[in-house]
Amino acid sequence: MKFFVDTADVNEIKELADTGLLDGVTTNPSLVAKSGHSSFLDLIKEICDIVDGPVSAEVAATDYDTMMKEAEKLAKIADNVAVKLPLTPDGLKVCKKLSDQGIMTNVTLCFSSAQAILAAKAGATFISPFVGRLDDISHDGLQLIEDIVDIYDQYPAFTTEVLVASVRNPLHVIEAAKMGAHVATIPPKVIHQFYNHPLTDSGLAAFVEDWKKTGQSIL
Ligand code: E4P
Repeated sequence: MKFFVDTADVNEIKELADTGLLDGVTTNPSLVAKSGHSSFLDLIKEICDIVDGPVSAEVAATDYDTMMKEAEKLAKIADNVAVKLPLTPDGLKVCKKLSDQGIMTNVTLCFSSAQAILAAKAGATFISPFVGRLDDISHDGLQLIEDIVDIYDQYPAFTTEVLVASVRNPLHVIEAAKMGAHVATIPPKVIHQFYNHPLTDSGLAAFVEDWKKTGQSIL
């Protein structure tokens, strides 16, 4: 399973890229606003220079003509830009055009299997079903992941990867991994939670203490 980080904070991205475990980045207009960066285009360029994998940059417009112009501008920033498009009729029309040109796309704000089928037919590189936001309204977000993975598996011609979005905790990712989801985009705080286990902490403390008793040094 590939790990993307869901943030527009350059320092967080650098820190996670240093682990060697980061496969890509997703941003959205809310995350860009939170970053406080004054130039979206410069921000995306900076992120693309840090991470080799796909970096999702979302269009701001909602009509076909303007989205198309924005998408072409975003795609020119770097080869690893994945243009993020809303799951609307116009968004999918742009998706199809970009896919035909070999430009990576991430179709966002997916909340149903029917929408995911449309995105795959439009040639999306990634489909982003929002697990946490479905859970928030008492719908089973992970069930949607299972359904989309199952549907895509029936059709080898569908090359769209399932990118689990709106992740709130490690369990969302673990369960989605069991279902065979290709990618999870995870907030930095949740990635850090992956490392934690009290038995790791207590076990390591005991080993450090016992090693001191040997009086030896490896170096
Ligand atoms: C996906 O690409 C979105 O940026 C993100 O996962 C949305 O998550 P949220 O529901 O926590 O805002």
